[in-house]
Order: sequence, then C-alpha cells, then structure tokens
Amino acid sequence: MNSARLLSLALSVVFGAAALSAADVLDTFKPGALWPDDQGVHINAHGGGILLHEGVYYWYGEHKIGGEIGNTAQVGVHVYSSTDLYNWKDRGIAFRVSDDPNSEYTKGCGLERPKVIYNEKTRKFVMWFHLEFKGRGFTAAHTALAVSDRPEGPFAYMASFRPNKGIWPVNVTEADKNPQLPEPHAGRLANAVLGQYLRRDYEVGQMSRDMTLFVDDDGTGYLITSAEENATIHIHQLTDDYLGFSGKWARALVGDSNEAPAVFKRGGKYYMLSSGTTGWRPNPGRSAVADSMLGTWTRLGNPCRGTPEQIATTFESQSTHVLPAPGKPGAFIYMGDRWRPSDAIDGRYIWLPIEWDNGKPILRWRDSWKLSDLKTAP
Ligand code: GAL
Repeated sequence: MNSARLLSLALSVVFGAAALSAADVLDTFKPGALWPDDQGVHINAHGGGILLHEGVYYWYGEHKIGGEIGNTAQVGVHVYSSTDLYNWKDRGIAFRVSDDPNSEYTKGCGLERPKVIYNEKTRKFVMWFHLEFKGRGFTAAHTALAVSDRPEGPFAYMASFRPNKGIWPVNVTEADKNPQLPEPHAGRLANAVLGQYLRRDYEVGQMSRDMTLFVDDDGTGYLITSAEENATIHIHQLTDDYLGFSGKWARALVGDSNEAPAVFKRGGKYYMLSSGTTGWRPNPGRSAVADSMLGTWTRLGNPCRGTPEQIATTFESQSTHVLPAPGKPGAFIYMGDRWRPSDAIDGRYIWLPIEWDNGKPILRWRDSWKLSDLKTAP
C-alpha cells in the first residue's frame, strides 16, 4: 500500500464517512465536494486546465499544501489523467519548483494557473504559467514557460517573460502612444483607458498575471493574460512552436479589470469567461465574445443565473478553464476554483455545464450532474 492510500485509510478511521474512498468509481460531478483521485486523495490541481491528447485528458494545476503557505508554490504543478473526466489517476508532479534559492522559480515563488498545450509540429508539450518571484508579492507579473516530450512531464523550465517588449498591440491608437494628458491620472481604470500602463510597460514588456492558453482550429496558439495592473486583458499570439511571442497582440476589455480568463470557441465565435479582481474572494463572473482572437471583444455580462448570492459570487468560484465536452460539439464545461486561502490544499472544484441563452453562455448551479446532461449545439 502506498503512502497516499495509507493516509486515506487513516483519514477514514479518524473521520469515518467524511473520508474519501479510492475504491469508488465515480460517474457524477459534485461541484464543491471533495473529489477523490484513484488513490482516494482529494485532487490537488488548482487554477488548472485540461489538455486532451490521444484520447486521454490531462488535468494540470497548482499543487497546494495545507495552511496559508500553500498559496505559494511549495511543490509545483500536479498532473492527473482520465478517460471519462470523472475518475482521475494521479500522475505526479509534472513540473517541480527549484531547490536552488537563486532560481527564479525557487520553492516559495508564486506559480499560478498553469496550462499545457501540445504542439503538433514539434511534438512538444508546452506549459505556461504565471510566475511571481519569491518574497516580491505580485510585482514581477511574469509569464513562464516549461517544455516536455511527454504529457505527464517532467517539464523543463525554459524562461520567464514580460511579453512583447517594445511592440505595440495591433489595436493601439495614436493617443495610446503619445499621451495628450499629463500623468498620472486618477485611478487604475482611468490609467488603463488612457494607455498609461501600456506606455509605461512598452520598454520592459507588458505585465502578465492570471492567464490561460488557447489553440485555434488552425493551430495558432494564444496566451490570454491579465495585464496593466489587472485592468486590461492582453491577448498575445504565440510563435508556431508556442515557445515565444509572434509579436502580434491585442488589448481587450480595456479598463474592465478582468482576471481568471478562460477562452473557448463555438460556432466560429470566441468566448471568454473571466472574473473581477478581488483576490481569493469570489465576485460576479463576466463573459465576452469576439469574432477573432485579436479582434474586438464585446461584453456579454454575468453568465450566472440563480440566487443573488450565487450571481454575486459565481457560485463561490473563480473561472480557470472551459473544456469542450467529449463527443458533444458545441457543449462545454465551466471549470472554476473555490479557493480556501487559509488552508490552500482544501480548495474545491466547481465544474458546471455551460448552457446558452440568446447567444450568451449561462451557468446554473447543480448539486450534481452528468456528462449526459450536456446538450449539443442547436
Ligand atoms: C486571484 C487570482 C489568483 C491568485 C489570487 C491571489 O485574483 O485569480 O490566481 O493570484 O488572486 O490573491
């Protein structure tokens, strides 16, 4: 018996019915409940995303430990695999933080929202994540890159970036480049709208915090990230190998203060779910649509339907990924985190089916649900 199984057994002795069992085969999603992996241990993959590769789903996320210290990276990125999305096999640590105190990804750094995409041309698995340097709060605002030949890793660290140094976005205006008004202006959002942060970071590269990746049907990859002091979303097109930036990028939802972006494509349109910026505390979700990734994004409002409390807190969750449902064209699954910052390892997962109303993505609470509840596109 391995140590995880032993721990699970010990927990069941102490906590009785509340403990997880490794023996159960799951066939239902239970948003917010403990979610046992194949060892009976609650899945540890927060702020995560899912890659489908050769019929297997890989769920990558932040490995958290107990207590508040678990909000910093003490271990790295955990990966699980599944063929049915209910039952997840623990595949270990895909990317490990460094023991070298001089490394920029040393143990204790901030390593958040890891996502992995597969590059068909190079046959590499490419991981990007939000990196903050140890002891420096959220000031670095870097995005970091790690690569592996295998989905379960180990991923090798490559570099971290402030994206697109010295390159203006495709939708920059003359006013953005040449401020007409004296700086600084009142407030973060006004600063964003006036292009202050864009200009400030032009020479050093743009900020990159909460992030996700998206691969379009033609194989073009994008890093979608919260920038400009979290006031504006930046969408950076990646190079063909996904290991860098092509130099084409756009600002989206300028001054709207979005975090936790998750992007998906349906019926030729691009959709983004996101949150507001209240740290670990949940807030009302947002949604937006565009005709192209680097085009104009239009707000679609809060996707949540339900009680005022549910609408105000996105069912006590924050978006992290949207997963195309297996075998159901046009059907998608919302993945969110219910953070537990005082005991980070106890964070829960809120997965809900995405419904549609008048071209808008909609979320409704379910205590439990199954993939068979998902509807294909009309
Ligand atoms: C949230 C963000 C999380 C984490 C947290 C820290 O807004 O989405 O990924 O950075 O803030 O307070």
